[in-house]
Amino acid sequence: MALPQSFLDELIYRCDIVEVISRYVSLKRSGSGYVGLCPFHNEKTPSFSVSGDKQFFHCFGCGEGGNVITFIMKEENLPFIDAVKLLADMYGMTVPEDEGGNDAARRHRERLHALNKDAARFFHSCLMAPEGRGALEYLLGRGLSKKTITSFGLGYAPAEWDRLCRAMMDKGYSKYELESAWLARKNKSGGVYDAFRDRVMFPIIDIRGNVIAFGGRVMEGDGPKYLNSGDTPVFNKSRNLFAMNLAKKSKSGRLILAEGYMDVIALHQAGFDYAVASLGTALTPDQTKLMGRYAKEAVICYDSDAAGQKAAQKAIDLLNRAGLEVKVLRIPGAKDPDEFIKKNGREAFQLLLDKPQSDSEYRLNVIKNKYVLEIDAQKVEYLKEAAAYIASVQSPVEREILTHTVAKEADITPAAMSAEVKRAFTAALRKEKKKTENEALRPIRAVQPKETGLRYSNPRSAVCEEKLLAIVLDDHELLQKAGTMIAPSEFSSDFLARIYEKALYMEENGHEIRPAAIMAGLEDAEVRHLTQVLSAKVASQDAERELADYVAVIKAEQAKQQAEGDDRLLEVLSRKRERKG
Ligand code: GTP
Ligand code: MN
Repeated sequence: MALPQSFLDELIYRCDIVEVISRYVSLKRSGSGYVGLCPFHNEKTPSFSVSGDKQFFHCFGCGEGGNVITFIMKEENLPFIDAVKLLADMYGMTVPEDEGGNDAARRHRERLHALNKDAARFFHSCLMAPEGRGALEYLLGRGLSKKTITSFGLGYAPAEWDRLCRAMMDKGYSKYELESAWLARKNKSGGVYDAFRDRVMFPIIDIRGNVIAFGGRVMEGDGPKYLNSGDTPVFNKSRNLFAMNLAKKSKSGRLILAEGYMDVIALHQAGFDYAVASLGTALTPDQTKLMGRYAKEAVICYDSDAAGQKAAQKAIDLLNRAGLEVKVLRIPGAKDPDEFIKKNGREAFQLLLDKPQSDSEYRLNVIKNKYVLEIDAQKVEYLKEAAAYIASVQSPVEREILTHTVAKEADITPAAMSAEVKRAFTAALRKEKKKTENEALRPIRAVQPKETGLRYSNPRSAVCEEKLLAIVLDDHELLQKAGTMIAPSEFSSDFLARIYEKALYMEENGHEIRPAAIMAGLEDAEVRHLTQVLSAKVASQDAERELADYVAVIKAEQAKQQAEGDDRLLEVLSRKRERKG
């Protein structure tokens, strides 16, 4: 749905970005603006800045930036329209509704929720009917109780081609709805057939209790082990977690993050009612954010194979970033938590849970496992890598503890290990220093926007166009002056020219120049790049002179390019003539 620009302008005008962001980030005054810890990446020193004058935010660490709407989209993980609605709610404004379109989409989603719920009931009744006997025996054979089966709403999709389709069409659902819910597929003649056949069914339920998708497991024979619903209007696999609807009610304040449906179900059955799983893909920031809403601590409990351990490493960072305290549980002697509990019982799992490794212990363990410590040369390599890791740990106390642990393990003196850590620390510092130096001598190509769609054809000119914009968007007298000196068409970058044109237009028509309003119609990537450009501005002693310098370079570059173009044209023409002659 398209919102009228006037409404958006009004919204941006009424919402004070400093006030809005302060609800999420603790901000401190700094210079003419505010700074705080960036909510979009993990940092210890604040590089997130918010400008009340310009009404935008920018993080010098990760490059995120934009206006108040962009902020809410990122922070609340919402699509544009929902971010606007949230802000409108915050400030008591009413979003103009456009008739039809929006309602139709909402009705469709409601129908799909109802369809999914009816489908789940259908699968469950099939599991309990004689035709589901094999499936029921399979589940019972894997150690699930009848109670667990019911509380997870497990089911069975019959083997025939269209049992679900027929049952649902009898209830009044259309083929289109079945297909749209990913429960059916179309065949060539326009009919539909069941997407899940002869599989044990695991309904996926969102935190509001809606059935939104399914996972289906084969019991024997071929085909992929699991078939999972693809994305639909009511399901996005990167935003949901299996069993989050149950885990969110747990009083434990923790979440166990496992890999598979069966792991989660086995954990719940054993009393660990705070287990969830990502849906067969790598964990996403949306999922960790969801976890962060319901718990303070996450215990990663992935499969013990190499793939599982690698995924665990990645998950640590993501979960940390979502503000969760992370522990990693390694499962000795079993491939996953399901198997471990079956082998050793719930008390044994509880013992594991009571003393999971801290993040750093876990990482050191991963490093250790790469080497054979009985071989001296390998032991040296291990000590070096461990020292480099310990040097990167922030807390001095933790560094000390880890240094002792490793020294003891490797049978060397703590002093020797400590010296090694110090060496690693200095080496890292040197590297960091070099990096900053290199950044200071930033080559031209570094000014290229990160987004490839915005590549500058003439970086030398574009840098000056950026700087020109940074000074004139802040000062309408300079903007007026610039308008008399250079036209947008003389810019080399279309993107920057558009911004400049918009600013000139606002100036001429007596509007206040507000970067946030200028950003209103831009793409996400463009907003990000523009805020970076505008925040990079350094206060100048003599802005007018600076402006004149930029204009001179832009004009010179344009002339050069034109001359090159002319030369090329002349060359083409003369070659043509030669051929003819
Ligand atoms: P079992 O114990 O073998 O029944 O499965 P599990 O629940 O332990 O799952 P497993 O650890 O094997 O896999 C983890 C998750 O990856 C599953 O829950 C599925 O979502 C997903 N997955 C596994 N196999 C497949 C597959 O063949 N295709 C797809 N698309 N996903 C799969
Ligand atoms: Mn398993």
